[in-house]
Amino acid sequence: MSLIQLEQIYKIYNEGKENEVRALNGVTLSIGRGEFVSIIGASGSGKSTLMNVLGCLDLPTRGSYHLNGKLASRMNDDELSHIRNVEIGFIFQGYNLIPALDALENVELPLIYQGVGAEKRARIAREALERVGLGDRVHNYPSQMSGGQQQRVAIARAISTGAPILMADEPTGALDSKTGEQVLGILRQLHKEQGTTVLLITHDNKVAAAAERVIRIADGQIVVDCPREEIAL
Ligand SMILES: Nc1ncnc2c1ncn2[C@@H]1O[C@H](COP(=O)(O)OP(=O)(O)O)[C@@H](O)[C@H]1O
Ligand SMILES: [Mg+2]
Repeated sequence: MSLIQLEQIYKIYNEGKENEVRALNGVTLSIGRGEFVSIIGASGSGKSTLMNVLGCLDLPTRGSYHLNGKLASRMNDDELSHIRNVEIGFIFQGYNLIPALDALENVELPLIYQGVGAEKRARIAREALERVGLGDRVHNYPSQMSGGQQQRVAIARAISTGAPILMADEPTGALDSKTGEQVLGILRQLHKEQGTTVLLITHDNKVAAAAERVIRIADGQIVVDCPREEIAL
């Protein structure tokens, strides 16, 4: 079975009410280990909802989701948070760094949750920051860094636990195109060098072009799913 296997996934907000929204309307999808996939679609098409389900941040209304052969769509909160901590690193448009912590401390956070000892986690966090080109910024606070640097800290945080899957929701949305390119370059490098499975969610076709496979979603349904070179972006 694939790393990620969705079968007829529905996410329906306010089901049966007047303001019902079918944010995911029967999504069937499989993604293998080591793939670099972008998920594109207009605003409101269901991209973030899909990422929330894939990332075990939210449960689908109906349908089955197997992650690593385990039925994630039926897990309880503890099981879901375990999956989130161990299997998946998250990157968001707004970086989501803690302002009162410096870069190193931000990257150490998920390791603290995993109970990694102080010395070891400082070493791992430093290595992760070096990998994203911020070895000389470990004691900078978010307010002392550019947007691109903050996003690289967020990537370092996402990879510090060694999670095999990275999920990025509009990671370049707040960055200029040159800085955005650098961030995408880091994702590509992680994919190539470490075999990280990368799911890149974006409304921007140019950003989506960084991936090897492109999935387009419209009104909560997959309308295109093909290799990067088969679609004009
Ligand atoms: N918590 C919610 N309650 C009700 N409707 C929601 C909720 N979250 C998202 N939606 C709706 O679901 C649809 C898909 O939203 P979303 O997944 O955020 O799209 P995208 O990320 O592609 O912009 C939209 O119509 C949005 O308004
Ligand atoms: Mg969104």
